[in-house]
Amino acid sequence: MDDAVITQPFLGFGLGLRTDHFEHILQHQPDIDWFEVLSENYLVAGGKPRYYLEAIAEQYPVVMHGVSMSIGSSDPLDMTYLTALKKLSNDIKPKWISDHICWTSIHGINSHDLLPLPYTDETVTHVAERVAQVQDFLGERILLENVSSYLSYKDSTMDEWQFLSRVAEEADSLILLDINNIYVSARNHHFDPMTYLERIDARRVQQFHLAGHSDYGDYVIDTHDHDIPTSVWDLYQAALKRFGPVSTMIERDANIPAFPALYQELRHAQALANQTLPGNPELQRSRLGSQRCSSTENTNTNTHIKPLAYRKPLAGEMS
Ligand SMILES: [Fe+2]
Repeated sequence: MDDAVITQPFLGFGLGLRTDHFEHILQHQPDIDWFEVLSENYLVAGGKPRYYLEAIAEQYPVVMHGVSMSIGSSDPLDMTYLTALKKLSNDIKPKWISDHICWTSIHGINSHDLLPLPYTDETVTHVAERVAQVQDFLGERILLENVSSYLSYKDSTMDEWQFLSRVAEEADSLILLDINNIYVSARNHHFDPMTYLERIDARRVQQFHLAGHSDYGDYVIDTHDHDIPTSVWDLYQAALKRFGPVSTMIERDANIPAFPALYQELRHAQALANQTLPGNPELQRSRLGSQRCSSTENTNTNTHIKPLAYRKPLAGEMS
């Protein structure tokens, strides 16, 4: 097996960029290593979201994360969407682009959900061919994320970790491992999440997501509206032991707390990583926690960077 490193270097500890935090980030410039942006929110040039994104992308590394590629669908690839995605990428220069290994639409009807695929040889070939087409179009490898699921197909002939690894190998793509999604699916489908971590192709894992969920006892829903629970932190530590330092971000999509609360949760991820991989030189390069006060109060001392205020674009400035 080829041992060449194909993943990008460890980026540190990041947060999902959320509208609620735009002003806070520009005013305080917290020592977050990077931000993940939801691509679909910024595909139209101009306007307030794009103004904030461009201002933040000037100061922080960003990665793009999408929900609309529908890479597993039997519909043709949506070239209008991919063209807009490429344009956004050219504009904000993300470190990488990701989406989910799922299908969202069929016959042009969008379910607005990340639906699981049957895990078969035929699906591996179908998805890998489409990933290769997307990568050729974008000119770079993309990351595909494992989704949480609540049903499985009788037709499946392999486990999810095998399916993800085979698609990544055949398409020469990368993997975004959502640790919470592994936990949620493991509970719902009664498999051991440690087996998932042990069997997935470690050479292609470039990013982790961490999130919370809603636990209903018999089943678990991937709601992203809670703090990260102990069960997911434990699995995160196991993942760090297996994969070493992997760019990690917290994905909070609803019930979004004030920025300082998410910042503290991210510091906890960093503390666990340092505890799990003591003295690791890549972890030492993270700037998280390097400021005397990181975003908890209005005590920004970076006087060389002026806080920005949104100015409505003038006619002719929209592109
Ligand atoms: Fe995720």
